[in-house]
Amino acid sequence: MKPTHFLTIAQLSTGELDRIVLRASQLKDDHRKGKRHHPLDGRMLGLLFFKSSTRTRISFEAAMVQLGGTSLYLTAQDLQINRGESIADTMRVLSRYLNALVIRTFAHEEIETWAAEATIPVINGLTDRHHPCQALGDLLTIRERFGSLKGLTLAYIGDGNNVAHSLIEGAAAAGMTIRLACPDGYRPEEVIVGPAREVAGKTGGAIEITDDPQAAARKADILYTDVWTSMGQEEESEKRKKVFAPYRIDEALLKLAKPTAGVMHCLPAYRGLEITAGVMDGPQSLVWDQAENRLHAQKALLEWLLT
Ligand code: CP
Ligand code: NVA
Repeated sequence: MKPTHFLTIAQLSTGELDRIVLRASQLKDDHRKGKRHHPLDGRMLGLLFFKSSTRTRISFEAAMVQLGGTSLYLTAQDLQINRGESIADTMRVLSRYLNALVIRTFAHEEIETWAAEATIPVINGLTDRHHPCQALGDLLTIRERFGSLKGLTLAYIGDGNNVAHSLIEGAAAAGMTIRLACPDGYRPEEVIVGPAREVAGKTGGAIEITDDPQAAARKADILYTDVWTSMGQEEESEKRKKVFAPYRIDEALLKLAKPTAGVMHCLPAYRGLEITAGVMDGPQSLVWDQAENRLHAQKALLEWLLT
């Protein structure tokens, strides 16, 4: 039997997404109360990373410990893949030892190649096109802050990148309105937006794309941003700083949102570029809860995939 992988948010039905987010909230509550729950006793999660990570790696490692299992962090340099062993052969072998594998890599097609060979669940820990684990934690954070998701408006300001793509898919499934303000040439990809619009049509959500950050921020419930230069784009950094300068979340932009609005950033953040220090460290910032919630969301995801 083919295992269930977790490569994109779009693969989840609205019901599945709802259940994972709700379960994450219960697991967070249990954790706070000191309730132990070890459904993954004796299981091992591999973490294979081709790019740096603080949150994704450590929250998955902590999640496995808290669920009674263990994890193993791997980089390409540790494996024979570094000396030419194929993805197919590596994945077949890893499938014999591990119970699931998180992969962080570049092209999204690469993780699909790994998944095609796997007989264990493969989890997307970020590709150039998607960051579904981030979106799970983000939806948990928004639900916690506002009590529900449907009908809320999230304004995403900046690069139409991997984080934006997964948020688009998550917002569509949850019946939210997502407004993206992106410079020309940096809009989210149509292969993501088109199908998400169809989903939003059924859930009561909407996807709006503009180049005007003020228009996007007006009366929004959440302002969200990410780095202007993602991993792998370092050579474009100087050009991007110029193009994205009008797309910073600052105090003036935040004033346009609802007075109850929360501010989100997946982190790592560069204060003074995509977000000012005052907003990032201010009273409306949700970023630290958002980072914590990666842990609880991933525990719910691991439970869903492995039990
Ligand atoms: N937000 C996020 O995925 O952070 P890391 O790159 O530190 O894992
Ligand atoms: N868009 C960023 C997200 C990092 C978590 C990147 O891909 O580098």
